[in-house]
Amino acid sequence: MKKFFPPYVRVPLLFVLFYFAVEYTIDSGNQPAFVKYPIVLLLYGFFFLTLIAVEALVSATNKLLNRLLTPEQRAAQELEDNKPLSEAQWYKKLMARLTRSKSIEEEGTIVLDHDYDGIKELDNDLPPWWTALFYLTAIFGVVYLVKYEVLGYDNQDQEYVKEVAKAEEQIAIYNLTAPDKTSVDNVKLLTDPSDLAKGKAIYETNCIACHRPDGGGSIGPNLTDNYWILGGSVQDVFHTIMEGGRAGKGMIPWKDQIKPADIEKVTSYVLSLVGTNPADPKAPEGDLYVSETTATTSNETEVTETVVEEEGVTP
Ligand code: HEC
Repeated sequence: MKKFFPPYVRVPLLFVLFYFAVEYTIDSGNQPAFVKYPIVLLLYGFFFLTLIAVEALVSATNKLLNRLLTPEQRAAQELEDNKPLSEAQWYKKLMARLTRSKSIEEEGTIVLDHDYDGIKELDNDLPPWWTALFYLTAIFGVVYLVKYEVLGYDNQDQEYVKEVAKAEEQIAIYNLTAPDKTSVDNVKLLTDPSDLAKGKAIYETNCIACHRPDGGGSIGPNLTDNYWILGGSVQDVFHTIMEGGRAGKGMIPWKDQIKPADIEKVTSYVLSLVGTNPADPKAPEGDLYVSETTATTSNETEVTETVVEEEGVTP
């Protein structure tokens, strides 16, 4: 045996086996366990040193025992060590254990009486390794049957479905706190009442000082008419609130104080104010915004309304 597994093969082999066992046992996602948990490195180091220590101890003991042998015993030992495999004592013993077959000399005791044209049959025992395997598979079958068919554990399909559901939950949690991906490129006009309510709350906290609670405008322009200095599309309004108005006018960029997703909500709220005709509004400023999608008739009414409002402001 020593010939096949000298220490320089045995030690790395055991170490690699240990490594795979540990990596298999510890759940560390896509990266190796020792990267995720540096303490595992210590474990590897400790195991490696232990292997070396055991090797050193074994070889020291062997040397010591060897010294106690008489020269004849030592010669016999060396002879045995150098024998080819099929003649080595340990190999013969191992084979006898594994197969439990009778040697040729003993075959006479197990030969069966029938004789097929001179061909005779031996009644050997089944090899113990085979019987052991047979019993193991039988036990495995019983455990499997009870676990999945009687106790109703999840099979692979059910495990898959459950894990996907769990991953989806984690994605939802991740998205709640994930960096905001709302931008001018994907901003939408939200219509959900809860989004508009959130937008209204943000508006009331940050914007009413200059645009009035009803959006009629004071320091900042009127947000309820359809005239816009900086553009009236969802993208324009979102951009104005994110990046602020023209320099020196007083409309600051809000992107550092309000998350883009929330600016999308306040944008939608601001646009929901258009056409609400608050009392005593500020005169329209900028250009009439004509939506590419709205019908012309709705814009015409907007214009007439604005004119009426203007008359009201300037007596
Ligand atoms: C300090 C006063 C002030 C505050 C607070 C303020 N704004 Fe303004 N806002 C202005 C001024 C002034 C302008 C005009 C900017 C320009 O002319 O470039 C403006 C412009 C705008 C415009 C563009 C109007 C147009 O005609 O194009 C929008 C939309 C707007 N503000 C929304 C908001 C929102 C939403 C908030 C709150 C998050 C807010 N503003 C807070 C002063 C303010």
